[in-house]
Amino acid sequence: MAQSVLFVCLGNICRSPLAEGAMRDAAIRHGLDLHVDSAGTGNWHSGQAPDRRARAAALAAGVDISGQAARQIAQADFASFNHIVAMERGVLAELDAIRPDDSAARLSLFLDHVAGRQGEDVADPYYGDDAGFLITWEEVRTGAEALAALFSHS
Ligand code: 4NP
Repeated sequence: MAQSVLFVCLGNICRSPLAEGAMRDAAIRHGLDLHVDSAGTGNWHSGQAPDRRARAAALAAGVDISGQAARQIAQADFASFNHIVAMERGVLAELDAIRPDDSAARLSLFLDHVAGRQGEDVADPYYGDDAGFLITWEEVRTGAEALAALFSHS
């Protein structure tokens, strides 16, 4: 069965859309058959495209995330994805709390996949400036590379 990964943050307009874009890009470059999506724990921005600053940061690296639309995580996601990756610890705790007992999805923290960054949150750039989004892009790009290597070997 093909692998699938869902990235989850709070609003699904900044961090997880960037992670989705970086992961899709890495999957293509690594020749992976990988289903990639993202969602938020909240529904405040449902239906919206990623934040303008997130779109710009990704596009500066050649990745277009403008076609994404925010959505809230649903119970069905715990059955349909085999990997669910939280962008911060608070989100991981919430996912753990709402996860159905029969879910086989593997939950993890995004930066736990990056050497030297274990246990850390991808900082929320939403209330900051444009530069914060470039830092977020670098973090998700590094994490997506690490995940691509993991999926290549599994
Ligand atoms: P994200 O950033 O979780 O990385 O998408 C946020 C975007 C919006 C809000 C919080 C975080 N908000 O409260 O509206």
